[in-house]
Amino acid sequence: MTTPVALAADHGGFELKEAVRLHLEETGVPYRDFGSYTSEPCDYPDMAQAACRAVVAGECGRALLFCGTGVGISMSANKIRGIRACCCSDAFSAEYTRRHNDANALCMGGRVVGPGLGIYLADLFLNTPFEGGRHQRRVDKLMALEGT
Ligand code: RB5
Repeated sequence: MTTPVALAADHGGFELKEAVRLHLEETGVPYRDFGSYTSEPCDYPDMAQAACRAVVAGECGRALLFCGTGVGISMSANKIRGIRACCCSDAFSAEYTRRHNDANALCMGGRVVGPGLGIYLADLFLNTPFEGGRHQRRVDKLMALEGT
C-alpha cells in the first residue's frame, strides 16, 4: 500500500500500537499516528475518530486501531460512515475480513494480543486483497444498512 496506514490507540492499546508502529517503520510501510502518544488514560471513541475519518477521506488506506480488548475501539470505528472495522485476535479472521468483508480497519486488544501476534495480524490484514465478486454484493448491502 502506498497510502499511509492510520494508527490510533487508547491507553489499553498504546503498547501494542507502538510495537506495530515500530514494525511499520522498520519495514518501510508509511503510516500516520493519530495517538495516543503516551500510556496516560484516554477515551477510545476519541482515539478512533481522527484515524477513521482519515480513512474515509482517502488520506489513509486502512486503519489499525488498538484498545485494551479491541472491542470498544471497533464499536467506535463502526459508528463512522464508511468504516468496516473488525476486532480480531486470530489469523483466519484477519485474513478473511479482508477477503470477504473488505474491512478497512483492524482492531486489536493490547490486553489480548501480544506484540508478535499483533504484528503478524497487522501484516496479514494490510497485505490481503478483497476478493470482490459475490462478496461485493454483500458489502454493498452491509453499507446500505448505514442509512437505515
Ligand atoms: C480501558 O480500560 C478499556 O476499557 C479500553 O481500552 C477497552 O478495552 C474498551 O473496550
